[in-house]
Amino acid sequence: MSHIPLIRKALSVVRPAFRLNFHHGIHGVPHWSRVWFHGRRIARSLDVNPVIVAWFAYLHDSQRHNDGYDPLHGHRAADFATRLRRERVLVELDATEFEHLCEAMRLHSDGHTEGEPAIRACWDADRLDLGRVDIRPLPHRLCTEAARDPAAIGQAWRMAQGQGRRRG
Ligand SMILES: [Fe+2]
Repeated sequence: MSHIPLIRKALSVVRPAFRLNFHHGIHGVPHWSRVWFHGRRIARSLDVNPVIVAWFAYLHDSQRHNDGYDPLHGHRAADFATRLRRERVLVELDATEFEHLCEAMRLHSDGHTEGEPAIRACWDADRLDLGRVDIRPLPHRLCTEAARDPAAIGQAWRMAQGQGRRRG
């Protein structure tokens, strides 16, 4: 199944509200796209609905006020998701899946490693992209087997560093 229409929809609602560098920022579209790439594979390994990680990828950093210390951005992302659901934009998830999405966003920058498979899939998808800020993902900080795979970490590192080289 193609997720392209879903991603187009997500970008169309996120972009007008996004305050930071959409095309080149460390929390912009290149990051969201890699989170989706990693998350899709992790979701498959855990039998998690990939639509949860798709929405996570494109929403979780969308409400940031800056690229640095912004501890409430995950909570704002969950509030934004709730608004999208109320407005019948985010319609693909059942109640439990939607709650997992919101929980994953609220807690995604707190370093947790325990939770429902869908939530862990989201967190690890995000953490695998730490190479864009020159942080190598550490296996013991990851919480899914699929993300801890050395081949996955190596691939994620190369993808993330590619953004840095283009920027630099
Ligand atoms: Fe992120």
